[in-house]
Amino acid sequence: MQKPCYSSFLICLMLLFVSIGCNRQPDYRIGVSQCLDDAWRQKMNEEMNRELLLHPEMTLYTRIAYGSSELQCAQIDSFVQEKVDLLIVSPNEAEEVKPAVTRAYRAGIPVVVADRRVSGDEWTAFIGGDNYRVGVLMAEWLQSLQAQKPQPLQVLEVIGLPGSTPAEKRHQGMTDSITAMAEPRPVVHQVLGDWQKDEAYRVVREYLRTNKNVDAIVAQNDLMAIGAAEAVRDSKGYGLGSVHIMGVDGIIVGLEAISNELIECSATYASRGDLVIETAVRILSRKPFVRDTVLETSMIDASSAPAMLVQYKERQHDIETMQLLQQRFDTRWHQINSDRTILIITNALIGLLFLLAISILIFLQTKLKIEIRKEILPQLAEVEQTLESIQVSKRDEAFAERMKQIVDEHLTDPNLNVEFLGSALQLSRTQIFRRVKTVTGKGPLDYIRERRLLHADHLLQTTDMTVQQVANEMCFSSPGYFTKCYKEYFSKLPSER
Ligand code: FRU
Repeated sequence: MQKPCYSSFLICLMLLFVSIGCNRQPDYRIGVSQCLDDAWRQKMNEEMNRELLLHPEMTLYTRIAYGSSELQCAQIDSFVQEKVDLLIVSPNEAEEVKPAVTRAYRAGIPVVVADRRVSGDEWTAFIGGDNYRVGVLMAEWLQSLQAQKPQPLQVLEVIGLPGSTPAEKRHQGMTDSITAMAEPRPVVHQVLGDWQKDEAYRVVREYLRTNKNVDAIVAQNDLMAIGAAEAVRDSKGYGLGSVHIMGVDGIIVGLEAISNELIECSATYASRGDLVIETAVRILSRKPFVRDTVLETSMIDASSAPAMLVQYKERQHDIETMQLLQQRFDTRWHQINSDRTILIITNALIGLLFLLAISILIFLQTKLKIEIRKEILPQLAEVEQTLESIQVSKRDEAFAERMKQIVDEHLTDPNLNVEFLGSALQLSRTQIFRRVKTVTGKGPLDYIRERRLLHADHLLQTTDMTVQQVANEMCFSSPGYFTKCYKEYFSKLPSER
């Protein structure tokens, strides 16, 4: 009885845990390895985090290598050890970071490479800008400047990080396009700016100290373009606006720099963190995805920058509103979830109480049954016994009656003895002894004698028969024996009657 109750209790408990836990989708841990932490990367991170709002089942873990390929490899390796579900890598340098990316890929972790490429093809998907095209745009801009000058244009190219694919491709695109130009064409010199504003300021300043005829500077990103502009501003023989400057990225500081006439133009370089996450989600949910996505680029100059800036600011405002709404939603969602949990627990408790009540009822019922059985059974047995004894005594009475009848009918018959009685009652000798004893409390011979004595007494009282005659009639062997028996039974002599 108790067993089903116990198992339903367990089932109930299991259901409780399952119902609390069942709302959870499988969680995905995504490792993000960023080579740097500048404004462009922060924009990309924000885009990824915004897109992630649509995928609460995913969590990003971001590590920044601060321009060190060695550190980036170590960080990727630790993500592999932690068995993240997917890796997003923006490699510092293509060759140097390749071994770690290959290790991750071979360990079965999907790798989405973003912005900069990695050497080899052991990665799952790539999303990044068209750097060669950026280089072509740089050359086209230089060509438009060259058109205004009869002598070759003196150009300073501020390279990001040699060994990173954007630096190489942008340089390649520009060089190839310039080589294809008719004479006079721009003459380009290089300095390394390490993608940093301060480093660009330092190297450009240094270059301008000895080179007084620079017409234009192409910096491979906006930050270095601004650093270069400041270097021009601060350099002897130059001054603000004395050199044409172009940047790359079109991020907000770049647009502001164009609007403020610090630099002339910039080629857009989309970060598309949203697309990176979307691709990661597709890979993880085994949906088809584009393996190699190359993002478009275009030129921004003084005519388009202010409008873009306004658009950016408006978008920024929308994003902030969205984030606020998200926060409110999160708070509400939290509350709903905890209400739900309380509801589930309450329901389960009610269920448990119900089960407990049923168990107690069953227990009490069983206990009552046992007690009733304990009390009633002996009484029942007693009743049964009484009934039986009533039946027995009824049977005995009938037997006694029949026996009395037989004996009384044959009182004068000298053959009336145990055998005679046995055959008359159809009982064996042993049975007749036992039955007569039970019914009369005496042996059959004693009983026969008693009946004869009683009848003899009756004869003595109601007839003129002598003691001898009565003794004879009642088949006593002698009058003396009759007198002895009579005296024993009636405690007086037959003659005294
Ligand atoms: C940001 C950045 C961008 C540049 C890109 C190239 O870290 O330097 O300015 O366009 O990386 O990978």
